Order: sequence, then structure tokens, then C-alpha cells
Amino acid sequence: MPSVEELKEKALSILGNAYAPYSGIRVAAAIEAEDGSVHLGVNVENASLGLTICAERAAVAAMITAGRRKIRKVVIVSSTPEPLPPCGACRQVLAEFGDDDTVVVSFSAATGERMEWRLGELAPYMITVKKIVEER
Ligand code: THU
Repeated sequence: MPSVEELKEKALSILGNAYAPYSGIRVAAAIEAEDGSVHLGVNVENASLGLTICAERAAVAAMITAGRRKIRKVVIVSSTPEPLPPCGACRQVLAEFGDDDTVVVSFSAATGERMEWRLGELAPYMITVKKIVEER
């Protein structure tokens, strides 16, 4: 199983691939799925701004494409001076495939500053497929 440090290194290795001509903020995410496989994503901005895809959601799409369904850890690396917490849309999408205990760690690539949360504190009371199915 990859350590947070290994996930950080993998995210750092693709940070330069981020497409962020509008904000100038580069973000990369590495997701560890429950079998230990790692899935990567970077932010993909768009001239419409609203169609921008965050690194976390790009990594979730890569994980699902690879046939995995469960997130164990998410490591985010950003070019900002402070670690970026996942945006609200990403929290909702992470909640679809993670649970309250899923670890989310964010690093500033610029300063090395680190922040860590559990998904349950970032995204409490999220509706998920599991809850919908259980209530049927
Ligand atoms: N961004 C991410 O990729 N992930 C986050 O958690 C927060 C924001 C991106 C979106 C946009 O391209 C840039 O960072 C500035 O918001």
C-alpha cells in the first residue's frame, strides 16, 4: 500500500501537466483505491471557467476508468503557498466513492505545508448511492 509520501511524489510528478492558463494554479491529485492501486489527475481548466475539472475529479474518473470503486486515501498537491482543500463539488464526488474515514491530505508544493482531514469532516451529511440504496 503506498504511503502518503509516495502518493505525494506521484502527484508532484504530474503537477507540471496541469492545464491552468486562466488561474495559474496547478493542482494534482493521487487517489489510493482499496486494492492499493494509484490513480492520478490534474486540473483541466476551460475558457468557460465553469467547465473546469478539478484534479480530484480527474483522479476519480481515472480510478473508475481503471475499474476501481473505493477510495482509501486522497493526496492533493498544489502550486499555491498554502495547501488547497477540495472544493465543494469535489467533496461531493469523493463522498460517492469514499467514506467518513477516507483520509484527505493536501500539500503546498511551494512551501511543503501539509493539511489533513477525514472526508467525514470535509463533507458531512453527504447523500451517496449507498445511503439511497439502504433506504429503499
Ligand atoms: N482546483 C482543483 O483542481 N482542486 C481543488 O480542490 C480546488 C481547485 C483547481 C480548479 C482551478 O483550475 C484552480 O484550481 C483554481 O481554483
